[in-house]
Amino acid sequence: MKWLVLLGLVAFTECIVKIPVRRVKTMRKTLRGKNMLNNVLKEHAYRLSQISFRGSNLTIHPLRNIRDIFYVGNITIGTPPQEFQVIFDTGSSDLWVPSDYCNSSACSTHVRFRHRQSSTFRPTNKTFRIIYGSGRMKGVVAHDTVRIGDLVSIDQPFGLSVAEYGFRDRSFDGVLGLNYPNKSCSRAIPIFDKLKNEGAISEPVFAFYLSKDEQEGSVVMFGGVDHRYYKGELNWIPLIQAGDWTLHVDRITMKREVIACSNGCTALVDTGASHIQGPGRLVDNIQKLIGAKRCGFKHYVSCSVVNTLPSIIFTISGINYPVPARAYILKDSLGYCHTAFKEKRVTTSTESWVLGDVFLRLYFSVFDRGNDRIGLAPAV
Ligand SMILES: *[C@@H]1O[C@H](CO)[C@@H](O)[C@H](O)[C@H]1NC(C)=O
Ligand SMILES: *[C@@H]1O[C@H](CO)[C@@H](O)[C@H](O)[C@H]1NC(C)=O
Ligand SMILES: *[C@@H]1O[C@H](CO)[C@@H](O)[C@H](O)[C@H]1NC(C)=O
Ligand SMILES: *[C@@H]1O[C@H](CO)[C@@H](O)[C@H](O)[C@H]1NC(C)=O
Ligand SMILES: *[C@@H]1O[C@H](CO)[C@@H](O)[C@H](O)[C@H]1NC(C)=O
Repeated sequence: MKWLVLLGLVAFTECIVKIPVRRVKTMRKTLRGKNMLNNVLKEHAYRLSQISFRGSNLTIHPLRNIRDIFYVGNITIGTPPQEFQVIFDTGSSDLWVPSDYCNSSACSTHVRFRHRQSSTFRPTNKTFRIIYGSGRMKGVVAHDTVRIGDLVSIDQPFGLSVAEYGFRDRSFDGVLGLNYPNKSCSRAIPIFDKLKNEGAISEPVFAFYLSKDEQEGSVVMFGGVDHRYYKGELNWIPLIQAGDWTLHVDRITMKREVIACSNGCTALVDTGASHIQGPGRLVDNIQKLIGAKRCGFKHYVSCSVVNTLPSIIFTISGINYPVPARAYILKDSLGYCHTAFKEKRVTTSTESWVLGDVFLRLYFSVFDRGNDRIGLAPAV
């Protein structure tokens, strides 16, 4: 308990990240067939070593697609292991889960880390805050053994939330950030960096395949790339700057007309974002071009027109990445069709976009820390 008392005395350093943690009804239904899938994927992970990136080892970790809004995967923390469902998020750099100390309602509806039950737990008195799109959390840094499938990080620093505001209905317990270390709010070494430094990951890359409609089939892979998840060759795109998964976009067009990004713009490739986000004025214009009508926070179209709507094309490093209407129109739980374009909450002086899961379901994505670049290719 002394550990908690100390927290009262220190100032929380604050940090704003742009992962849009959105509300979604909890859906903890699990399918019977899942263990089978896990086994299949595990077997493949070993066999795949021959065909992966530069002949290196590969860990393939299954993710569950929750209504095309979130992709969550299991990790464990502590000894014996305690299991958590987290978002693997390229838009932030901190790993955190709820703590035993957290009295917020958001914590009581999720799995909380019972630090007293872990023999490898080590507290610190470093604190931090993170402000997300629709919620915020206050946490303290601790150390313990963290496992992602067969990847093990001993004495890994991670955050334990002591208070959470705003995201009670979310369907995941915590977040596992995969952005660069200098984006970390807690200033702790991110798990990918620690695994990389310790040689647990043979190549400093990870990649995402995000399934559509189905709960099963999505994966994040570490240490290499499994070619069977994409078609053709990967196009490599340099980052604007090492330290953030942000790319330069040449232009955004629809029916050969430039509809946004007319002087070039930037885009964060963000697996923790559900939608495609951009500056309000430009997003409003796209909604208008699509013929979508605002109702509440969303813009709706009649589901019957989806087949007639044009693709929206992101041109990146001279290559076109079309996003067809069947990808940028989503169905809500009542069966109504709405667009997947959203106004970005954090505004910047230059035009910037966020390419979230809507884009990443179409394009298999490789995050190459070794060369500070992102690879994209049409997903299978
Ligand atoms: C996560 O763990 C739960 C419980 O152990 C299991 O039912 C579920 O299938 C796992 N999820 C994934 C994506 O493997
Ligand atoms: C949580 O509630 C308990 C009992 O009401 C209280 O003793 C404790 O200080 C609270 N913890 C925090 C972090 O507010
Ligand atoms: C907390 O901070 C104080 C002063 O900075 C330090 O003396 C103490 O050892 C720290 N406690 C832990 C558990 O790290
Ligand atoms: C790849 O995996 C094998 C078997 O698990 C291991 O012996 C080998 O050291 C690994 N290679 C690298 C480069 O990590
Ligand atoms: C972030 O870290 C990278 C190296 O990983 C460095 O090149 C970059 O300049 C840093 N960015 C900032 C804003 O500090």
